[in-house]
Amino acid sequence: MLSHVDWEIWRREKSPFEDVLGFFQIQAAIEMCRGEEILDVGCGDGYLTRELLKHFKNVTGVDESTVALNKAKINAKGATIIQSSIEDFKPARKFDTVLMINVLEHVKEPVKKLATISKWLKGNGQIIIHVPNAYSVHRRLGKYMNLLNNCTDLNDADRAIGHKIVFDMNGLIKTVKKAGLVPVRQGGLFFKPLSGPQMVRLYNAGLWENDEQRDRYFKALNKLGTDFPELASIIYVVCKKNTS
Ligand SMILES: C[S@@+](CC[C@H](N)C(=O)[O-])C[C@H]1O[C@@H](n2cnc3c(N)ncnc32)[C@H](O)[C@@H]1O
Repeated sequence: MLSHVDWEIWRREKSPFEDVLGFFQIQAAIEMCRGEEILDVGCGDGYLTRELLKHFKNVTGVDESTVALNKAKINAKGATIIQSSIEDFKPARKFDTVLMINVLEHVKEPVKKLATISKWLKGNGQIIIHVPNAYSVHRRLGKYMNLLNNCTDLNDADRAIGHKIVFDMNGLIKTVKKAGLVPVRQGGLFFKPLSGPQMVRLYNAGLWENDEQRDRYFKALNKLGTDFPELASIIYVVCKKNTS
């Protein structure tokens, strides 16, 4: 479980809402990680990779973006940071756990990418995948407000940040199965009642008696998402290689 101290440090360093959500994502992923050799695929600026270093000895981050990796080399000092696309990456060793946090929705041909990544796993290795949920309550509200025809449609905000697909749990499970992987656990994180920019304003608005109350509120939103994955902002699946 995330300790009060971890949360305090994170909140002080990373105030915008997206980073708070990232905190809950990486804490959940850390609890599900197995083994010592961890690979963070699409590690981006390395903020989440840095958290992995607190728990695991051998952490590798790979990403194709030069801009992101320049930050990752500073943020995740101690990790092996490699610039490569998923397509071109040829790891020298295999991994116990591969993380793909907020990445699969950005890639073309997700089945092909997952099939490639599955070859980097040790025999009993696992992949932990987090993606935004098409049926997050804020997208359902967007549909009721006639801003979206279907919750699984890409909207302008999705396109602006490079999303190629909006997964729901069924779509995510079908995708991992098509890649020859076996889902062993699935769920949701964080209940997000408003759009991203609105959540940032809510977080910064100071509606609470004090920071402790605000932190309790955001932790409670995370708990709500774990209790009601069908409404959660993030859905995840943990999968293994099909060895049969
Ligand atoms: C939204 S960011 C997520 C970063 C980090 N995992 C996080 O959650 O903070 C997606 C990252 O995936 C990387 N990415 C997307 N497609 C990729 C590919 N085919 N090969 C390698 N990296 C890729 C992007 O460069 C970007 O840094």
